[in-house]
Amino acid sequence: MRKGAMDTAEKFSRYAEWVADESPLYASLARAAADDDLLLDIASEARSAQPEPELLLAAVHSLLLDGREHPLSQFYPSCGGADPDADPVPQFRDFCRANEAQLRSIVARRRCQTNDVGRSAVIRPAFEHVARTAGTGTVAQVEIGASAGLNLNWDRYQYEFAGAGTVGPSDAPVTIESEVRGDRRPPVSRAVPTVAYRRGIDLNTLDASLEADARWLHALIHPNRVRRHDRLEAALEVAREHRPPLTEGDAVDALPSHLSAAPDDAALVVYSTHVLYQLDEETIANLRSVLSRHSRERRVYWLSIDPGEELGTPTYRLVTFDDETARETQLARFESYGKWIRWLASEDGPPSQEPS
Ligand SMILES: C[S@@+](CC[C@H](N)C(=O)[O-])C[C@H]1O[C@@H](n2cnc3c(N)ncnc32)[C@H](O)[C@@H]1O
Repeated sequence: MRKGAMDTAEKFSRYAEWVADESPLYASLARAAADDDLLLDIASEARSAQPEPELLLAAVHSLLLDGREHPLSQFYPSCGGADPDADPVPQFRDFCRANEAQLRSIVARRRCQTNDVGRSAVIRPAFEHVARTAGTGTVAQVEIGASAGLNLNWDRYQYEFAGAGTVGPSDAPVTIESEVRGDRRPPVSRAVPTVAYRRGIDLNTLDASLEADARWLHALIHPNRVRRHDRLEAALEVAREHRPPLTEGDAVDALPSHLSAAPDDAALVVYSTHVLYQLDEETIANLRSVLSRHSRERRVYWLSIDPGEELGTPTYRLVTFDDETARETQLARFESYGKWIRWLASEDGPPSQEPS
């Protein structure tokens, strides 16, 4: 067993517990991998700081989505499987042995960069909140860790907020359904802020129009999450038509030039979802310094999840930098894929209706 494989086994065991409610299939496969030296060795090809269980399972899923014929596919609803009650583990072990070389290559090369537009359920009201606060109808947006940039198109989606109404273009190919919990109504009027500038930065940008990248994004979604697969497909379609402008590179290095390129008359918003957990403390501190320094020239709004809180039901916060002084507001709690949001900021609208 290669060095570090014991740690990897523990990660698979922990992942199996974590994923059990969402995907019983993945829980079984992760438990099996935790006890299989070859599978652990394949997973150990992952680059540092990348989660081995998610990468191995996504690598297997991507080969099946690519049409690799194997009885394992009968357990994957995303590949036409019926998810039968039979034990998937023998087929999983067989598949991994038969496709070892390709799996090693995918795990070593790819990253965990799920791009879920359900998160736009919190991004949409957060932008409206900033626009209202700034007293403008125009925003300039720079997304950190944009992956394929699907959330950069948040203004092109329709939203059905149960308890707060439907907003966004009625003919949008993407509809995001989200339940509004709690007493406060999120700021979701019909007048969406105009996006005057759009830019995404990612260490490894994915291209919606490349089949392999689109397949990888599907592979990162659990095979039984049919709604999420459908929503991703629709968002990829929007991105093929409205290509999100993406820059490949480290956020800290790439930010200054894109902040400077944003038009002066728009509220300048830097934002991210599910990214800061991939950055170390020093990088987050550097990111903060870049934003703070830029606020000598103009106000900068920073929307992000609190570092360390990115998994589970995180809090979306707003940090406003004004001449190097930062003020922080908690905006909302939300389910990671946008199934529900609970608005926390105080100044907007009457209490929401109870969802029917
Ligand atoms: C889990 S994905 C989330 C993608 C997207 N924000 C979403 O919520 O759908 C995290 C993304 O952050 C990117 N990332 C990690 N560290 C980064 C850095 N230092 N600079 C830019 N992007 C980074 C990864 O490549 C990955 O695409």
